[in-house]
Amino acid sequence: MAKNPRMAVLDFASREAKRSQYCSRAAVKLEQLLLKFPKVLSSLQKGKVVKCVDLGCHPGSWLQVLSRKIKKAEIYGFDLNEIESLESLKYVDVNRTRTFQCDVFESDALMNSLQLDKNVNLLTSDMMAKTTGHDDATASHELAVRAFELATKDLLAKDAHFVCKIFESEETRALKMEAKKAFASASLFRPDAVRKGSREIYMVGVGFKG
Ligand SMILES: C[S@@+](CC[C@H](N)C(=O)[O-])C[C@H]1O[C@@H](n2cnc3c(N)ncnc32)[C@H](O)[C@@H]1O
Repeated sequence: MAKNPRMAVLDFASREAKRSQYCSRAAVKLEQLLLKFPKVLSSLQKGKVVKCVDLGCHPGSWLQVLSRKIKKAEIYGFDLNEIESLESLKYVDVNRTRTFQCDVFESDALMNSLQLDKNVNLLTSDMMAKTTGHDDATASHELAVRAFELATKDLLAKDAHFVCKIFESEETRALKMEAKKAFASASLFRPDAVRKGSREIYMVGVGFKG
């Protein structure tokens, strides 16, 4: 039982996020994913500078987790929404983190200008379209496919990794089959921090074959 009564009404993930000063409970999902697939972090913590791309980065809690866990990461975040005060996010080092307001379906020129091609060691995507109750799974699937294509066709370096939110649907199996071809291993995993009843699930590809 939480000592602070205000904390007691929050769910586990919200409490954990508050405790670690993350700006959103989504951070706890990424922490749980990184614990479940330890090879992702261990391969990125070897001392050399690595590049991470975070799609759908607003309000910034995955940027916080990446900054906290990977000390030598250069981090590039993209979102339809602008993150106005990066410097107020605990753990984020503004000298090695840049964010861009853009639609990932129209981001090719921007990403080219950043010279990210085949240079990215970890691509994460927590993108989600605004839920309308109508065709949410399709909209989410399209975002996941875009993230997968950006990762595997354009951005990932050999041996890089991929973490991506998906709204589970009939099309999820096909995407997983594609991921199994592209990565040494590909799995679907639902962190405990995902709310009960949600169709959210995460695809994790470890070791891009290049
Ligand atoms: C669940 S939030 C991400 C939370 C974030 N991972 C964090 O930890 O703070 C989903 C984000 O996806 C973004 N998004 C949805 N469609 C997008 C698109 N086409 N291009 C870029 N971002 C998009 C939304 O603007 C929203 O901020």
